[in-house]
Amino acid sequence: MAGGGSVIGQLESGKKVFVWGGLPDEIVQIELIKDNTKYAVGIVKKVLQASDHRVKPFDKVGYLSTSPYQISNFAYENYLKSQLIIQAFALHKLNIVCQVKTDNKDYFYRNKYNYTFIDKSNKTYCSTTNFAITTRQSHAKIPVKSISLPNKNINQFAKQILYTINQNNIRHCHNLLVRSSADGTIIARLYIKSNNFNINCFNQFNNLEICEFDTFTNKIGKTLKTAKTLQLVDKLLNKQFIYSLDSFWQINQAVYEMTLNRIKQFVDSNDSVLDFYSGVGSIGLSVTNQTNQLTLVEIDQINNSYAKINADKNNAAAKIKTASVKTAANLIKQNSLLIVDPARTGLSKELTQQINKVLPKRIIYLSCNPVTQARDIKNIIANYKIVDNLAYNYFCKTPHIEHLIILDKLSIK
Ligand SMILES: C[S@@+](CC[C@H](N)C(=O)[O-])C[C@H]1O[C@@H](n2cnc3c(N)ncnc32)[C@H](O)[C@@H]1O
Repeated sequence: MAGGGSVIGQLESGKKVFVWGGLPDEIVQIELIKDNTKYAVGIVKKVLQASDHRVKPFDKVGYLSTSPYQISNFAYENYLKSQLIIQAFALHKLNIVCQVKTDNKDYFYRNKYNYTFIDKSNKTYCSTTNFAITTRQSHAKIPVKSISLPNKNINQFAKQILYTINQNNIRHCHNLLVRSSADGTIIARLYIKSNNFNINCFNQFNNLEICEFDTFTNKIGKTLKTAKTLQLVDKLLNKQFIYSLDSFWQINQAVYEMTLNRIKQFVDSNDSVLDFYSGVGSIGLSVTNQTNQLTLVEIDQINNSYAKINADKNNAAAKIKTASVKTAANLIKQNSLLIVDPARTGLSKELTQQINKVLPKRIIYLSCNPVTQARDIKNIIANYKIVDNLAYNYFCKTPHIEHLIILDKLSIK
């Protein structure tokens, strides 16, 4: 498989082709959608020889855009993802084995979803407003009846909103962002391109905000309806967290909690813990207790305002810094236990340099992009050994995977 979710194949001519809708070892007929001198891209039209692992996708229309692994059984998906991680590390001559952990729930797991719409004003004619996806072939929007990644509370809420939109003949809806807590409470924001309708038809949805959205400038405009609240409360390892519709919060909470349990095993009660890229504090605050010194470093002020509330609830002594990890790197000491959970781009260069200079005793690196994680680990591995690693499939059916690595400083020979 290729990292993005297509499978790498060969045309009869021998040219390399990235195929959407195929699995390894299959023979398929494809429609070419790109043909460069070096490689081609195609979409499966007919499966001539199917993989034993092939299953029917839940979302017949649209799975290729949202979650191409829908055609694989779950065990094989996890196997393929473990191979991708192993390959990413092998590229840097790092030999690892990799087990993938899940909670065995591969559909209806997301606690946040962003629905887009299509309506009669669009080029593709639809008599009503519908949810939409963008196709891989033409990058055109097409209507879809169902999307099977968001949890059932979110899908049910989104369908009620869609029903209200159609009952009131509202057009020009842009997108609907919905988030739910584990207890099923929903918060949401609807972005709309025109305000030519009676807003009162949404009055029954207390926790829904409605805003104008200008597609030319890509800017959010006036708030047309305010929500009673846009905050949620959830528990991780029995600690309570508050966060908002726009905060960073992992989308697969059950599997995230499995990761936190694993991380906790590598945190001693007297460790001095630095949680870099800390969001609303969900790792640092859940895996430490009052005996730990804890510092959270996060660049986003709003995330940090929630981290402050969460620290007051769970670990009053935690220090919270609104800073880039680049400027906060000097906080790292030899006795630090450093937790890093960066965005897909991986660690900043300055942070890697500081790690190599100070050599903190343990590094816990959680990543949503094993490719950049492998690059970063190659840059520090001369001073560290990998003591544990596990992948967690937070993003089932999609091409993404989370990977946890624990590194201990090599003892001086
Ligand atoms: C993958 S999220 C992890 C958040 C948190 N650990 C969690 O799991 O909830 C990455 C976080 O890093 C923050 N971030 C991105 N670049 C940063 C930087 N240069 N310095 C500090 N924080 C940064 C983002 O705002 C985001 O909250």
